[in-house]
Amino acid sequence: MRLDKRIAIVTGAGSGIGAAIARRFAAEGASVIAADINADAVARTAEGQERIVGQTCDVTGAGAVDSLVDDVVARFGRIDLMVNNVGQSVAGLLTDATDEEWNRVLALTLSSTFYGTRAALRAMLPNRSGSIINISSGAGFAGAPGLATYGAAKAGVNHLTQSAAVENARSGVRINAIAPGSIETPAILAWANNLPGGVPAYEATLLPGRFGRPEEIAAAALFLATDEASFVNGVILSVDGAASARMPAIAPPDFDK
Ligand SMILES: NC(=O)c1ccc[n+]([C@@H]2O[C@H](COP(=O)([O-])OP(=O)(O)OC[C@H]3O[C@@H](n4cnc5c(N)ncnc54)[C@H](O)[C@@H]3O)[C@@H](O)[C@H]2O)c1
Repeated sequence: MRLDKRIAIVTGAGSGIGAAIARRFAAEGASVIAADINADAVARTAEGQERIVGQTCDVTGAGAVDSLVDDVVARFGRIDLMVNNVGQSVAGLLTDATDEEWNRVLALTLSSTFYGTRAALRAMLPNRSGSIINISSGAGFAGAPGLATYGAAKAGVNHLTQSAAVENARSGVRINAIAPGSIETPAILAWANNLPGGVPAYEATLLPGRFGRPEEIAAAALFLATDEASFVNGVILSVDGAASARMPAIAPPDFDK
């Protein structure tokens, strides 16, 4: 197994991408602390999983994230893998965004990642070993209508990841990010359902013609977690079916022909 004896924390592990990463890491032999604000959700992720422990935690508080990491180190002796996965957008035009929405998106998306990266680094650096994986988004690379607050927060996640990797480049701890494209999770399905034509119409606009699956993000996280990625550091890895590779000014081919 590729993560035998590793100790991992995955935040936002009660649903979607976080749940898939927690299960994949556990399947590869890691002991996984699946942290989420929603106790029922994280209990479902841990159900029937010998190597997953559910833990309630609100990652928008620095103290809560520090305690999460401290408790894991006290219980398991160390932490090898930290996946900072919590993030949330509030869709809406910039001119309509309230201060509360801005602060909420920043707290959930950027501050949570900062707290998690800092706490994990402090715990991992003395061991000169570890892998931190921040879940970013294609929205962090370029502008999109309705995604200004979320995109700004994810751009911050990208920069935080790069700076952390550069600062600690000789430490033995690697810090990378994954930028998913549109992944089939409850949050995006609820959003797409409200668009004209609903989920099928939205899915047809996606370059690969389908949503990505949470398991496809988990597979990329697994690579970054293993020693096979020993020289991969400070990378923002797009896992998006070519979405970020496309020059938007030129229409994609007509795939139906
Ligand atoms: N789904 C996509 O298409 C997509 C695309 C790009 C990036 N992402 C990013 O991937 C990550 C996961 O997205 P998802 O679609 O799997 O989300 P999701 O809504 O399915 O799951 C998010 C989980 O985070 C938990 N959570 C929310 N607030 C929390 C808090 N304060 N503390 C702890 N846990 C909290 C929720 O309870 C939920 O279990 C996010 O950072 C998101 O921005 C998702």
